[in-house]
Amino acid sequence: MTMETKYQKIEGIVARELSCSAHAMEHVMRVYNLCLHLTKYELNVDRDVLKTAALLHDIARVKEFNDKTGNIDHSVLGAKMAEKILRTLGYSEEQIAHVKHCIAAHRFRSKVKPQTKEAKTLFDADKLDVLGAIGIARSFMIAGQYGQKIYSDISIQEYLKDNVVEEKADGRVRDISKHTPNLEFELKFKLVSERLYTQKAREIAKERLQFMENFFEKLKREIKGEC
Ligand SMILES: [Fe+2]
Ligand SMILES: [Fe+2]
Repeated sequence: MTMETKYQKIEGIVARELSCSAHAMEHVMRVYNLCLHLTKYELNVDRDVLKTAALLHDIARVKEFNDKTGNIDHSVLGAKMAEKILRTLGYSEEQIAHVKHCIAAHRFRSKVKPQTKEAKTLFDADKLDVLGAIGIARSFMIAGQYGQKIYSDISIQEYLKDNVVEEKADGRVRDISKHTPNLEFELKFKLVSERLYTQKAREIAKERLQFMENFFEKLKREIKGEC
């Protein structure tokens, strides 16, 4: 079986797993494409491992979402699901172990931190997907889902006191309906670039964050009737 056939089979399996969430599958394909882009700037990347891991990284996302116990972590379960799939497709034990590491280490809050170039690239591509034009589009889709306002003019200090656990920027938001895209940008997205591993991803993050900064500034002015 060629690698292309394997990727097609994996994409089909993941699409079925995520069939109730079109956004999740769209995200997977953006991360896959971004991984390919980032590899142009890195030497000695195992593209077979990276492409496979990118396609599989969120395979357990819907399972985590539907889990009422809160015990499912999609990076942990995803790595286990990937192992079974890759064995049936004839991947080597070494490749399977490597793909599993990439999946296990792809979240901010994963206990496992990315150790390899492939795992670092997947981590970065996944995080870049909350930034830039796509980040804005995604945050407004979420805002619509939770009945949030388009913009909030509250000061960050006041908001942290009012709606964030322990008043920490990375703390959990208490009432999601009081949250807005510009607050998410100030509290979370601005911190993303510090946590990226690859040089090219940091450059892309900088450009995407500037675009968002300009967008939210203009949004604020338009809301106030200033332009
Ligand atoms: Fe994920
Ligand atoms: Fe993801």
